[in-house]
Amino acid sequence: MREGRLKGRRVALAVSGGIAAYKAIECLRLLTEADAQVRVLMTPEATRFVTPLTFEALSGHPVAADWLAATAGGETHIKLAEWAEVIGVVPATANTIAKLALGIADEIVSGTVLASRAPLLIAPAMNDLMFTHPQTQDHLAALQSRHAVIVEPASGRLASGKVGVGRLAAPERIVAVLEAVLVQRRNLDGVRVVVSAGGTREAVDPVRYVGNFSSGKMGRALAEVAAARGAAVTLVTTVASNPEGIDEVAVGSAKEMLAALERASVGADVLVMAAAVADYAPDTIAPSKLRRTDKPLDLHLRPNVDILKSLGRRPGLFRVGFAAETEDLRSQAQQKLAAKDLDMVVANQVGVDGQGLASDYNAVTIVGSSGVVAEVPRLPKWEVAGRIWDAIDACRNRGS
Ligand code: CTP
Repeated sequence: MREGRLKGRRVALAVSGGIAAYKAIECLRLLTEADAQVRVLMTPEATRFVTPLTFEALSGHPVAADWLAATAGGETHIKLAEWAEVIGVVPATANTIAKLALGIADEIVSGTVLASRAPLLIAPAMNDLMFTHPQTQDHLAALQSRHAVIVEPASGRLASGKVGVGRLAAPERIVAVLEAVLVQRRNLDGVRVVVSAGGTREAVDPVRYVGNFSSGKMGRALAEVAAARGAAVTLVTTVASNPEGIDEVAVGSAKEMLAALERASVGADVLVMAAAVADYAPDTIAPSKLRRTDKPLDLHLRPNVDILKSLGRRPGLFRVGFAAETEDLRSQAQQKLAAKDLDMVVANQVGVDGQGLASDYNAVTIVGSSGVVAEVPRLPKWEVAGRIWDAIDACRNRGS
């Protein structure tokens, strides 16, 4: 989490009583690292899982756990409700979700939520059978219809030892969504996004490939930011990482990437082509491993498929390309925009130490059909991704 990002923003972190309560500690840490002000509320059950002292020490404030405590004059939930700019229920148990959906207020968490009109984020965590129960799903749907943001739980090993859906979303994902809610960037809700990432690998023989230095980090950041802003995201990548809340498709060659993108682009609203596609691929793939000899080896390369050109313009699909350039950033970007009939090109300078390919940082120039839309200075790729989505959003809204 980037320092200062949430400076002064007021977050109420409401912890309910499940085994995942300890993961709320990490959320609190990430939020305070981003300079948010955090007040922690706990249900009585939550205090049995994690002691309030832990949250007190990390937030620097008393924890609201007993709403009948005389010192607060019975007003704590009202004060907290007025104070909070956003309330995040992390983890949200089936019981707490039911109470919030029905308006039951019998302890500090449900009481505060009922008294608040701040945006509400709910990160469920429970046994898979409890999560998939129609009753729980109905309650979540009711909360969602009242604009609560649900951070879907992940699949994985549950406390019961069984593998299923119900594991609390990763703290980084929860905090990213909280941030999107706070800065009013849940603006990709209902938008279907496809992102490509990584360098394609063009096979030479069964064990070798022709490739490039792309790490897939920029594409992954674009996918994660879009998901945090509410989009349904498919990430087609050569560097699989199984990111939570994102539909990931692992591919190798440009041909495979094209086939996956063809499928994923059906009905999509935005395609961001951040992948570094190999421009050339071996003419033939040796069926068995090439043996070492003392003679030089000539690899004959043929031009590879141009994915963006092959996909072509489609009604309703906003197409964004990347341009990795060593010089003439703007003019190259403008040329690519026209040549590939794109809506936007994100140009980045390669060959500069500490940014671009394989780095955690990038600096980009964003070019739209009307010229330069934004110049983004060297920033972590996550931040750059946010600026790119801001630009996409602005251009799409202008176009519609
Ligand atoms: N791209 C593609 N298929 C290719 C090559 C590139 O779809 N075979 C996409 C990239 O994902 C990127 C954009 O086209 O979004 C521009 O990629 P880049 O490599 O900068 O440009 P090229 O078209 O390959 O031109 P050049 O290498 O000559 O700069």
